[in-house]
Amino acid sequence: MITIKNEREIELMKHAGMLVSKMHKFIKPYIKAGVTTNELDKLCHDFIIKNGAVPSCLGYEGYPNTLCTSVNDTVVHGIPNNTKLKDGDIITIDVVIGYKGYQGDAAWTYTVGEVTEDKKYLMEHTEKALYEGIKMVKPGNRIGDISNAVETYARGHNLGIVKELCGHGIGTDMHEDPDIPNYGPKGVGPRLKEGMVICIEPMLNYGGDDIYILDDDWTVKTLDGKPSAHFEHTVLVTKDGYEILTPRLDD
Ligand code: MF3
Ligand code: CO
Repeated sequence: MITIKNEREIELMKHAGMLVSKMHKFIKPYIKAGVTTNELDKLCHDFIIKNGAVPSCLGYEGYPNTLCTSVNDTVVHGIPNNTKLKDGDIITIDVVIGYKGYQGDAAWTYTVGEVTEDKKYLMEHTEKALYEGIKMVKPGNRIGDISNAVETYARGHNLGIVKELCGHGIGTDMHEDPDIPNYGPKGVGPRLKEGMVICIEPMLNYGGDDIYILDDDWTVKTLDGKPSAHFEHTVLVTKDGYEILTPRLDD
């Protein structure tokens, strides 16, 4: 069931989304060679608590941390650990924050020091693929229109598409209907309506589409070892278009 949020719920989701944006802005200066992903996780955990909110990934289906920290060939759901980041890495920070029961969710990929042109290309075009998807958000359009826009952009830039994972509706639960694949035909799937809130989240690879999952049952990696990027926003369907509830405050 796809939920439609009323005005009060939308206010709470805006608040949750803004906390997600603020947390990303807060953590960005710490993303440097020498820091561990555990340290980033702890900083973000404390930031969320101080803001009277809930780190929703922590304990979700047994997930052990506040953040997902996915480095280089890790696509998503990288578990924070004591490995130090090094110059040339890229790292996706993905977080879900709950405020008075309503969730906000955003991921973006950051550089550590100077990274290769390949990684810059991957990041730039993964973020642009997200915006191509977001541009399709308006009442009357269908989920497939988003999926197809992301796929067309990604393939047009020769990037691999992770097909096993998709975007999703969001509200009191971090994952609600509908699923939002990052590929597929346009003109199919549920129609968007004012008051729906969805997360669009292309996960694109510099190499092929294929992935595998580590024995920890969380960490998703590219099969060919090539880097992967992930950009995600929580987006409200408005009367005539959309509003991004997790705006970037960091650039
Ligand atoms: N932001 C992720 C998503 O879009 C959060 C899931 S991680 C989990 O699904 F640990 F909470 F499962
Ligand atoms: Co999400």
